[in-house]
Amino acid sequence: MKDNAYFDNASTTWPKPEAVYVFIDQFHRSHGVNPSRGGYAMAVEAEAMVIQTRQLLATFFGFSGPANRVIFTANVTDSLNMALSGLLTQGDHLLTSRLEHNAVLRTAEYLKRQRQIDVTQVPASPTGVICVDAMREAIQPNTKALVVNHASNVTGRVQPLSDLGQLARDHKIPLILDSAQTAGVLPIDMQSQGISILTFTGHKGLFGPMGIGGLIVDESIDLQVTKYGGNGILSESVLQPDIWPHRHEVGTLAVPAIAGLHAAQRWFNALGDSMASPYGITGANDARKLTVELDEHAINKPLDLAKHTIRAKDAVQQIHRTELKHLAKLIDTLTAYDHVRILGSVDTKTLEQQVSTLSFVSKKVSTERIAAALDADFHVCLRAGLHCAPLVHTDEQTLEEGGAIRLAPGYFTDEQDMTQLLDGLKDVLN
Ligand SMILES: Cc1ncc(COP(=O)(O)O)c(C=O)c1O
Repeated sequence: MKDNAYFDNASTTWPKPEAVYVFIDQFHRSHGVNPSRGGYAMAVEAEAMVIQTRQLLATFFGFSGPANRVIFTANVTDSLNMALSGLLTQGDHLLTSRLEHNAVLRTAEYLKRQRQIDVTQVPASPTGVICVDAMREAIQPNTKALVVNHASNVTGRVQPLSDLGQLARDHKIPLILDSAQTAGVLPIDMQSQGISILTFTGHKGLFGPMGIGGLIVDESIDLQVTKYGGNGILSESVLQPDIWPHRHEVGTLAVPAIAGLHAAQRWFNALGDSMASPYGITGANDARKLTVELDEHAINKPLDLAKHTIRAKDAVQQIHRTELKHLAKLIDTLTAYDHVRILGSVDTKTLEQQVSTLSFVSKKVSTERIAAALDADFHVCLRAGLHCAPLVHTDEQTLEEGGAIRLAPGYFTDEQDMTQLLDGLKDVLN
């Protein structure tokens, strides 16, 4: 039996590709200095790696504007704070849904109290999907932004992003996307999907480390500054410089974490390459060990961004396909029990509209007991309770009873992980 059969990938993905661990260590040792502060070669190369990471991410997310509109933050919560606080002023209306994570809910509530903004949270259908018509009806003349997550972190249900993007475009309202649960798992294309501000976190499906996230801001958006401080640019002035991305990035960047995200982006590329080759890798376990050409000289070579678009997209599709196979097995196991209810009525018929996360409750066995038994007897790592989306729990009637069990297999979940989980579920639910 494995010590850790990990099913908490909706929280953070683990493990990461080997190349991510290696490059963080290597780059931190060889270039662990402050970029954009020094003129010496090491600092210039560190800056080059940061710029390349912006370019890789802009390409990965189908952003056609300049890479200096990619702003690094600590995580997607930080990014959403900046997007909402930077766009909304007194008297504005924010349109959102009841499916949102506290990253959106609490920020919106704060702005409601402090800036008297008006917030509409449109309910989702019983299957956890945002109704685009209901969103349309809720638009007001003062609606300043539409913010939604791409997939719920409780039910894993994917939202109709392109339709929401079209709605936002038709009404000239910026669409802010919380891609926490989908970046790296579903293709995201800011251009064709009508996303004005994409917010992402590095440590989930993007396979980077914790401590790095970002937002990509379309050139049509004048995002107000919400943080102030030094960044090595125009240091003679006490005013925040109006130069992107430095206008929004203050203090020293998390360079080792950016290096990890950089390696992860190149790993997506390598996975796509391998899939295109007849001698390529055969499974996720091999994929995890794929080496990536990364050394201090690699960062001085120009990137082939056109290739990155294609290869990374293939890799993302392969990751989603693999994860859904695990999810289908989980659904089959859980639906065999009459006393089990999967939130959002997720079933194998709607698999394509899912990321590989589901939550369930049992009428017979408490959530605490299921989690404790799976942990103690089968070493299953999962999350039980409330999942930072209180309105989803309210609508699913799981708030008062203490939430639900959430299972999130990942790309690196293997047969042994699945055996431990499925054996454990059968043991505790029978
Ligand atoms: C939909 C959604 N939004 C926001 C977040 C917050 O992510 P982070 O903690 O990386 O800021 C999460 C994390 O679980 C999430 O699932």
